[in-house]
Amino acid sequence: MIYSRIVGTGSYLPPRVVTNAEFAARLDTSDEWIRERTGIAQRHIADESQASSDLALEASRAALAAAGIQAEALDLIILATSTPDYVFPSTACLLQAKLGVRNSAAFDLQAVCSGFVYALATADNFIRAGTHKRALVVGAEVFSRILDWNDRGTCVLFGDGAGAVVLAADSKPGLHASVLHADGSYAGILCVPGNISGGKIIGSPFLHMQGSQVFKFAVKVLDEVAHETVAAAGMRLEDIDWLIPHQANVRILEATAKKLGLPRERLVVTVDHHGNTSAASVPLALDECVRTGKIRAGHRVLMQGVGGGFTWGATLATM
Ligand code: ACO
Repeated sequence: MIYSRIVGTGSYLPPRVVTNAEFAARLDTSDEWIRERTGIAQRHIADESQASSDLALEASRAALAAAGIQAEALDLIILATSTPDYVFPSTACLLQAKLGVRNSAAFDLQAVCSGFVYALATADNFIRAGTHKRALVVGAEVFSRILDWNDRGTCVLFGDGAGAVVLAADSKPGLHASVLHADGSYAGILCVPGNISGGKIIGSPFLHMQGSQVFKFAVKVLDEVAHETVAAAGMRLEDIDWLIPHQANVRILEATAKKLGLPRERLVVTVDHHGNTSAASVPLALDECVRTGKIRAGHRVLMQGVGGGFTWGATLATM
């Protein structure tokens, strides 16, 4: 049997930190409100000169170095983003060029905040099929570009960043199971309902969200998909060392852990200092835990995504 295994992680956060106090200075909001309702204290925001591919490049270099693999050895690059550099070509192709390599397959995957989990499951299937051996899987976002900075209901929630993993073929898992879902009938509760046509933006270029509906939906499906994924892997929730849900809001994360009966100590929370970085949130959190020694070889990690579409899913991996 061929499986895939995570052999290196990396991440990158742009240096500029925006605190809640900065929002409170110019909008009708407060540090207290933002912390209480979301758990967010600060987020990183990319410089105007930085695009998703630039953030992805830094995270990818770190993941490749951790894996001890040269970029030339990659045969697959999947990049999850909702904030691509261009309409086309894909940000994955731009990343490939910035890595200075050619010929590997490279494509973007768009599943909003579930993008990384979708990309991981996709790469896992390529490797299990035996057609590819070493994949770079990246989540990279500059959500700051699609926010209405005068809308207090959305602009305080998000941040920019990138996370990456290198997946390699192995005789042992690695990735045990992934479960992916979508329900397009919920498209309207979280969307950027615009497009480019005839040299103009048609519709809105900003993120729109019905916060409380998103909140309820997220807690429900994160609970369901955790059970499905653990069952698909032939394990039990007690076998999980770490739960890394998409980092949307600390109340969503805590409600999910509580519903699953997982102790708070096994829940990974980075939303407090990263904000919601959409497709980058899970690999950013994973890399932070690996680098601080919290997640170690042999630990079982359940990674979960949920976001616009609506899309949701989970992957269970042994590190
Ligand atoms: N500061 C102060 N007041 C605010 C702010 C703010 N930044 N934002 C909204 N409010 C106000 C609202 O205008 C509203 O005022 P009103 O009662 O006078 O109308 C009041 O606070 C309550 O608003 P609610 O939306 O009911 O507040 P809620 O407790 O639901 O919190 C929040 C809002 C934080 C957005 C919450 O719904 C949430 O986290 N939802 C999930 C959103 C999310 O995580 N999205 C990420 C993308 S999706 C994903 O990643 C899964």
